[in-house]
Amino acid sequence: MNSNIVLIGFMGCGKSSIGRRLAKRLSHEFLDSDDLIIARAQGTSISDLFANEGEERFRERESAELRDLVEAQNIVLATGGGAILREENRALLHRIGRIVWLHADPETLFERASRNRKRPLLDVENPRSTFNALLESRIPIYEATADIQVDATGLPHEQTVDEIIRVLALGGIPKVSTEAS
Ligand code: S3P
Repeated sequence: MNSNIVLIGFMGCGKSSIGRRLAKRLSHEFLDSDDLIIARAQGTSISDLFANEGEERFRERESAELRDLVEAQNIVLATGGGAILREENRALLHRIGRIVWLHADPETLFERASRNRKRPLLDVENPRSTFNALLESRIPIYEATADIQVDATGLPHEQTVDEIIRVLALGGIPKVSTEAS
């Protein structure tokens, strides 16, 4: 198994900021699938790609970037929140590295996800209900796809990085149940 780490999770969970810090700590290269898509599209923003080409074409672009990363070494990859939707992508992510699901409570996610306009899926009349529906439909997919989970609720980014490193160093502890015990 290589030492790559793949971060998955809903919009606003902090994949990019935490991933960047994690990469630094591990002396890995940090990559962000959204940034790779933007670079390949000559700087066109995610919102413009959605508006000009539609979500399906964006998902094609996302899969193409992941296919290109199966041989990558020493990377931390932050993925877009919807990268886990395609079965092909889930298989690719497992080939790329160990998959960490970063989660946080819905209020934190919504507050963070609403901060910028990089999120065309939430640029709708009633973003909160769209957010709720998307989150509910995706949680089981994040959970099933991840090798490990880390709850970043209320944690400063550096502490979340510590927690990821701690859990990974244990060789991947079993998934924490999301049900109250
Ligand atoms: C998306 C999440 C975004 C970006 C695009 C679609 C999604 O990335 O890929 O707007 O489907 O959840 P972030 O999770 O980095 O916001």
